[in-house]
Amino acid sequence: MTDTDPLDATRQMWSRGSYATMGDVFAAAGQDLVATVGVEGLDVLDVACGTGNTTLAAARAGARHVTGVDLTPPLLEEAARRAEASGLADRVTWHEADMADLPVDDDGFDRVLSSFGAIFATDQQRVAGELRRACRPGGTVGVTAWAIGGLFDLMTETLRSHVPDLPPAGPSPRDWGRAELLPGIFAIDPDALAFAERTITWRVPSADAAMAVCEENAAPVIVLRQALGDGWAPARAEVVALFAELGTEGPDGIELPLAYTVATFAEP
Ligand SMILES: C[S@@+](CC[C@H](N)C(=O)[O-])C[C@H]1O[C@@H](n2cnc3c(N)ncnc32)[C@H](O)[C@@H]1O
Repeated sequence: MTDTDPLDATRQMWSRGSYATMGDVFAAAGQDLVATVGVEGLDVLDVACGTGNTTLAAARAGARHVTGVDLTPPLLEEAARRAEASGLADRVTWHEADMADLPVDDDGFDRVLSSFGAIFATDQQRVAGELRRACRPGGTVGVTAWAIGGLFDLMTETLRSHVPDLPPAGPSPRDWGRAELLPGIFAIDPDALAFAERTITWRVPSADAAMAVCEENAAPVIVLRQALGDGWAPARAEVVALFAELGTEGPDGIELPLAYTVATFAEP
């Protein structure tokens, strides 16, 4: 029996479901990250770009050129289709690569961004070091993560609590949503970090419909569903109840708050 290459396993994982559908739910966070750092006339790198939410937001916001890097070919193909359809293809370059070994020059970019991407690093310091290596002195590094206690964080924690015999936790995506841990991850002065928590509103017909979107499209949820087997129904019911509790009534169903964090710092 041969061991699966960990990068292949990651690629296969992120190819499951429809990232495009799930990512569209929170594309506004990528737009927010771009607006927070400002990109007009600048060279931008988007690490773990998926279907290009932040890459295309940066190109639309007037970046000189944007480079999107991701490990998962089908997501990059969709990103390229979207760039073409929006008339942005000439200002965007895509690379298939591991974020722990970025195929870019030192100091090559004015802005180095990652929206809900770097958080999946298996070696956090190494990936953080790669983001910093790519950023010019005086440039800005910016990352988004799901806020601790926010809806996606609680969904994941609830589902994980139902999985028996979870393997020992490795580096957690949650670490990137904690202001007190980021200076250590990036090896920066804590005073250099700007950190904010913000919310997107997800409008869906019902709590159950929101869960259906996640279980059909979000790769990490699909993996947990598979791990749970017969235990899926009670775990799912708990998350639907959580969504119903966090949601408020809206004109077309319910409005769910998706809390996320935006962390930025200037590269010395
Ligand atoms: C939640 S998605 C975020 C995508 C995009 N940044 C967005 O905001 O929609 C996480 C992305 O990380 C990518 N990813 C995971 N591990 C990676 C690695 N080691 N190197 C590069 N990309 C990786 C996945 O392929 C996926 O596109």
